[in-house]
Amino acid sequence: MWQIMLAILPEPASSFAGEWDSVYSIVSWITGIAFLLVEGALIYFIFKYRRHKGESDKETPFFTHSTKMEILWTAIPTVIVIFIFFIAAKNFVTIRTIPKDALEISVTGQKWQWTFVYPNGVKKTTAHYCEGDANLKTLHDCEAAGKKWSWGDPLVVPLNKNVRIKLTSIDVIHSFFIPEFRVKQDAVPGTYNFLWFKPIKTGTFRLFCTEYCGDLHSQMLGVVKVVPENEFNAWLAKEASGASEEGKELSVEELVEKGKGLVQKAGCTACHAFVPGKRIVGPALAGIFGKEVKLNNGQKVMVDEAYLMESIKDPTAKIVAGFPPAMPPQNLSDNEIKAIIEYIKSLK
Ligand code: CUA
Repeated sequence: MWQIMLAILPEPASSFAGEWDSVYSIVSWITGIAFLLVEGALIYFIFKYRRHKGESDKETPFFTHSTKMEILWTAIPTVIVIFIFFIAAKNFVTIRTIPKDALEISVTGQKWQWTFVYPNGVKKTTAHYCEGDANLKTLHDCEAAGKKWSWGDPLVVPLNKNVRIKLTSIDVIHSFFIPEFRVKQDAVPGTYNFLWFKPIKTGTFRLFCTEYCGDLHSQMLGVVKVVPENEFNAWLAKEASGASEEGKELSVEELVEKGKGLVQKAGCTACHAFVPGKRIVGPALAGIFGKEVKLNNGQKVMVDEAYLMESIKDPTAKIVAGFPPAMPPQNLSDNEIKAIIEYIKSLK
């Protein structure tokens, strides 16, 4: 009975979720009962003191107030409100006090994906795309075409360990929300916010962006995967050994393949078409290599490796005429940029 108010909440899966739910449940019951008492009395009095037949000139008796009633209806709610303050403040302090021993994961929001960086440099992203056709931008279009939609990488976290999330954004305000953990925090460009949680259940949970951040906001989703600690450590070590291969030299074909994957993962395809002439937000990138483009200051520039590298590292340095300076700086290594450039070169 007491738990009936919790039916609309997702399962609690972090250490403080149960306490959070208790506060929520208690406040819901108190306000629910107060609502019924006030509205019940209102309806009762409407009928009890309505004007009866033949009483059209009956006067309402004179009275001013009842001291006893006024003391009661001031004192009882005061005690209740102070009680609510203490249980809520206690829970708030728990949620806002980040344990010192926490594993720190750096999380960056951008239109429209989350990037996770682990302490050992392993980088994962929720970039979602249609496998096999990057031009299909929505889950609906992708599935309608009979192709598979990829939700990108999950945020993998260890069971029963404190995790600190260092949160920022590189473009607009996003908001990091994991309902099962009862955590929600804005990701604000130019500054850092923090939150923490200790997962108490293995399994997968949903990560949402809960701040409207543009037309694909509703697709800025991710998966949180809680695994036992030994499994987490093994996963992280394996990912780190894979990441160290980044630096090795690749053939042109391998670079093109890598670049093709990267433009989806890094989110380039959200704003640039990789087919000729199609405008999304930024210029289409197919068939431009080796050609001249006109800039918004009237100058012309040859599209070569140096220009592409500069435009990825410092997107507003040279703006193509007719386009807004809308691209955020990209957090890509030189090797990754090299692969993307080879991919752009390969497009006719
Ligand atoms: Cu990011 Cu909504």
